[in-house]
Amino acid sequence: MSDFDLVIRNGKVATAADVFSCDLGIVDGRIVAMAEGIALGASRHEIDAAGKLVLPGGVDAHCHFDQPTGDGSQMADDFRSGTVSAACGGTTTVIPFACQVKGASLRAAVEDYHRRAEGKAVIDYAFHLIVSDPSDQVLGQELPALIRDGYTSFKIYMTYDDLKLDDRQILDVLALARRDGAMAMIHAENSDCIAWLTEKLELAGQTAPHFHALSRPQIAEREATHRVISLAELVDVPILIVHVSGREAIEQIRWAQGRGLRVYAETCPQYLFLTAEDLHLDGFEGAKCICSPPPRDAANQEAVWDGLENGVFQVFSSDHAPFRFKDPKGKMLRGAEAPFRHVPNGIPGVETRLALLFSEGVGKGRITLTRFVELTSANPARIYGLYPRKGTIAIGADADLAIWDPEREVTITNGMLHHNVDYTPYEGRKVKGWPETVISRGEIIVEGGGFAGGAGRGRFLKCDSPVPARPKGRSEE
Ligand code: URP
Ligand code: ZN
Ligand code: ZN
Repeated sequence: MSDFDLVIRNGKVATAADVFSCDLGIVDGRIVAMAEGIALGASRHEIDAAGKLVLPGGVDAHCHFDQPTGDGSQMADDFRSGTVSAACGGTTTVIPFACQVKGASLRAAVEDYHRRAEGKAVIDYAFHLIVSDPSDQVLGQELPALIRDGYTSFKIYMTYDDLKLDDRQILDVLALARRDGAMAMIHAENSDCIAWLTEKLELAGQTAPHFHALSRPQIAEREATHRVISLAELVDVPILIVHVSGREAIEQIRWAQGRGLRVYAETCPQYLFLTAEDLHLDGFEGAKCICSPPPRDAANQEAVWDGLENGVFQVFSSDHAPFRFKDPKGKMLRGAEAPFRHVPNGIPGVETRLALLFSEGVGKGRITLTRFVELTSANPARIYGLYPRKGTIAIGADADLAIWDPEREVTITNGMLHHNVDYTPYEGRKVKGWPETVISRGEIIVEGGGFAGGAGRGRFLKCDSPVPARPKGRSEE
């Protein structure tokens, strides 16, 4: 009889803490042995990872799959195509969003989202909530019960008419997060500034895609970031600012962190690899890169790199928000000449997130391999209550692994990706390093560039109350 279901030999293993050589033995989907030279013949299956890196599978803590939109647009990826695409890019856990419709029940949104995911997801998944209507019923009953049930993080918006909360509502929701031990994620942009600028731009006939970036300047992001930091300080609760785009918001976060506040931050590939110039492409092509906050400029890209290097950022996510370009339910919802305000926001990137950061970050010496694992896997697992089951390579952890060839050169094209979107903003970009074999709970699910796992094999993950969500001075409670 074999001791292991699978042994991975001769690889260089990296966690958020260390890089070391060892073999891994897997039984029943979990890592049960880490040793120098596990005996030959001890396993039914073996993978020789000589010359390769063995990393924890990525945890993409910000992606949107099959999320109802309410404006007639439709996300191109459901839980099947979205998670196949994630897996093929080296990600083994995703945390998309169950979004409350204003006036409706949050519990109903969660139940609906479960129906969308079950039988389709091919990797494990948890849900963040989106709280758009903090009614007495939601604050008094639904949200506390959902947090107890394992939905321990939620996003709130400071912009978008159908989602945004005012300051009073934000205070109420943050106070609940503090009391019940949830992580609050904030989309920080000043709604009134954006509406005012949009109106001015439209009056001047400036409605082409690139004006989207002018309608959402850094001042609007900076102001909202500062404001929500102040609200969180008042309540004494940690928060995480999502999809931070550039220097001005970073300065606010750094200032808060310097004051000793537990303010965490996430950034995304679009703020490293795109600029507002990408919205300036011919005709309507710029709509492909419309997302909020918008990509900024080269100097801001450098500021984001600095933040990844120096610890301002804890999390690197994709914010995969998949809308097809040539599609009346996608970017062309209101036609091929629609004013920017009617173009669905968001860009695809769940499959390219890791390779882009690995190539430009680790490959070019901007961040270490351990920092890469921290930003893309360990920290999102910790911050959202999934660690150490996910996010590391350790005895007892789920055997969610990505075996990378650090030397493999790949030119990204949309044709090679597995999402259901008809473009990638990174078309033609060359990267070095690619996750060749991906393993989820001990099962090889990606091999030779293609998905090789079973349909609908992903499992729902209940999240613990995250330690990083505890107020200052209470880490040991
Ligand atoms: O433009 C973006 N980022 N769309 C996705 C929704 C969000 O706010 O994250
Ligand atoms: Zn957002
Ligand atoms: Zn998002």
